[in-house]
Amino acid sequence: MLISLGSDHAGFAMRSLIANHLRNKGFEVIEHGAVSETEPYSYVKAGLAVASDIQTHRVERGIVICGTGIGISIACNKKQGIRCALCVNEFMAKMARQHNDAQILALGARVLGTSLAISIVDAYLDGLFEGGRHQERIDEIAHQENPSTKS
Ligand code: RB5
Repeated sequence: MLISLGSDHAGFAMRSLIANHLRNKGFEVIEHGAVSETEPYSYVKAGLAVASDIQTHRVERGIVICGTGIGISIACNKKQGIRCALCVNEFMAKMARQHNDAQILALGARVLGTSLAISIVDAYLDGLFEGGRHQERIDEIAHQENPSTKS
């Protein structure tokens, strides 16, 4: 599976760590955003690049990282059809897949230790969408973006 990663400067170190972890697990990775921890980079631009990779079906999953994960998740969720879930533990990450079919996971590099962040990534990627009533909820959300779809 190809995974799109994006971060601002605050998330750069964690993005590099996660990229290595994913490559070691056999995933292919695309990286967007900051090129160092010291050169400021917009979390909005980094998030939107990952959201675009999902919208265009270039990738199936994205992971976005900023200082708190808040700004970058808000930016991603402005884009049509994107469900980006900010998670602080493995349970949330698992539910983000099982119930919310989130295509993008958001993490806060200034919030999480590195080993917890890696565990959250693994829980997220292992989670499978359950469909059924959860699909109905997603359809309700999609209806807010596009009222011509069924709610
Ligand atoms: C950057 O200083 C910081 O504002 C950003 O990484 C993020 O936390 C925003 O939500």
